[in-house]
Amino acid sequence: MAESIPSLRSQPPAVVGTTLREHVLHGMHAAPGATGEFTSLLNHISLAVRIINSRVRSAGLAGMLGYTGEVNVQGEEVQKLDAFANDVLINVLERSGHCGILASEELEDARIAESRGKYVVLFDPLDGSSNIDTNVGIGTIFAMLRRSSPKDNVAVDDALRPGHEIVCAGYTLYGPSTLFVLSTGHGVHAFTLDPNVGEFFLSTPNIRCPLRGNGYSVNEGNYSRWPAPIQKWNQWIKEEDKQTNRPYGHRYVGSLVADAHRTLLKGGVFAYPADTKSTNGKLRLLYEANPMAFLFEQAGGAATDGAQRILDIKPTSLHQRTPLVLGSSEDVMTYRQFMMGER
Ligand code: AMP
Ligand code: AHG
Ligand code: MN
Ligand code: MN
Repeated sequence: MAESIPSLRSQPPAVVGTTLREHVLHGMHAAPGATGEFTSLLNHISLAVRIINSRVRSAGLAGMLGYTGEVNVQGEEVQKLDAFANDVLINVLERSGHCGILASEELEDARIAESRGKYVVLFDPLDGSSNIDTNVGIGTIFAMLRRSSPKDNVAVDDALRPGHEIVCAGYTLYGPSTLFVLSTGHGVHAFTLDPNVGEFFLSTPNIRCPLRGNGYSVNEGNYSRWPAPIQKWNQWIKEEDKQTNRPYGHRYVGSLVADAHRTLLKGGVFAYPADTKSTNGKLRLLYEANPMAFLFEQAGGAATDGAQRILDIKPTSLHQRTPLVLGSSEDVMTYRQFMMGER
C-alpha cells in the first residue's frame, strides 16, 4: 500500500527568513515622516549589486576578465568588471529618481543626476580589482548622505561631506556566497543572496565587532616604506606574549571588502598606513574609508587614520586618500598608541 503522504496542512509552516526588502521596509515604518525615497533608493542599490553579482559569477565565461585598456582617474588600469559595475550603478541610481549626486571611484568628477533626487551616493563599484582574475573575493562599497544643497541648485560639493553625516552605508562581498552588509544607523546586519530566489535573506543580524581580537591584516610587503612607529607596532604584534595573546595571526587578501569583513566579524585590526610610496595612504576617503568607518562604529568597532576618527575628516577633494585603521576598539587604540609614540 502506498505510504500515506502527510498532507501539506500537517507540515510545519515553511520558515522563510527576513528579506532585505522587508528589513528595509520595517526601517521605513520606524522612521518618522519617511516618504519612501530612502527605501526606494536602497532597493535600487540592492538591484544594482545583484546585477553586478550575476556578471561577476560568469565573468570568466563571458569574456569579462581582464582589462579594458583604459586608465582611470586614479591612474589605475580599469578592469572590464570595474567598468561594468560602474555603468550598472550609474544607470540604476539615475533610474531610481532619488539620487541627486553620484560619485564613483571610476568617475573623475561627481555627477549631477537627472532627477536631482535628495540623496548623494558615493561608491566604489568594484573593490579588489587586482583580485578579479584570480577568483579571490571582491565587492562593492557605497555610502548615502542627504543632499545639503537646495533641491534645484545641486552643488557637486555636496559630495565632499564628513563621514559622520552618512545616513546609510554598506558593502557587498562576492565571495563563496554573496553577502550584503548594511547599516542605516541602527546596527549592522548581513544578508546572504539566495541565487535561486534572487533575494537577499537576513543571515547575521546585529553584527558586533569584538572589543579585542587576535588577528591583524596589513600588506607586510610595504614594511620598509612604513614610518618607524608603524614598523614598531608591526614587530610588537608578532612577538610571543601569552598575556596579550600575541603573536596575532596574519591574514591579508588585498580586497578591502574581504579584509574588512573578516575583521568586523572576528575583531583585531586592519591597517593600510601611509608610506613613502602612498604618502596619504592608498585607500580613498569618500567611498572606501568612510563607508567602512560608519559600519565599524555602528558595530561597536573603531576607524581612524591612525590618529583621528575617519568620520571627522572634512574632505577637500573627491578622490583624496587616507591612511585607514579599522577594527576592534582596543586594537585600534593600541595601534594609535604606537603611532603617537606612546609605546
Ligand atoms: P525619506 O523621506 O524616505 O527620504 O526618509 C527620510 C529619512 O528617514 C532618511 O534620510 C533616513 O534617515 C530615514 N529613513 C527613511 N527610510 C528608512 C529606512 N527604510 N531605514 C532606515 N532609515 C530610514
Ligand atoms: P580597488 O580595487 O577598488 O582599486 O581597491 C583596491 C584596494 C583595496 O581593495 C585593498 O585593500 C587595497 O587596494 C590593496 O592594496 P595593496 O595591493 O597595495 O595591498
Ligand atoms: Mn576599492
Ligand atoms: Mn574599485
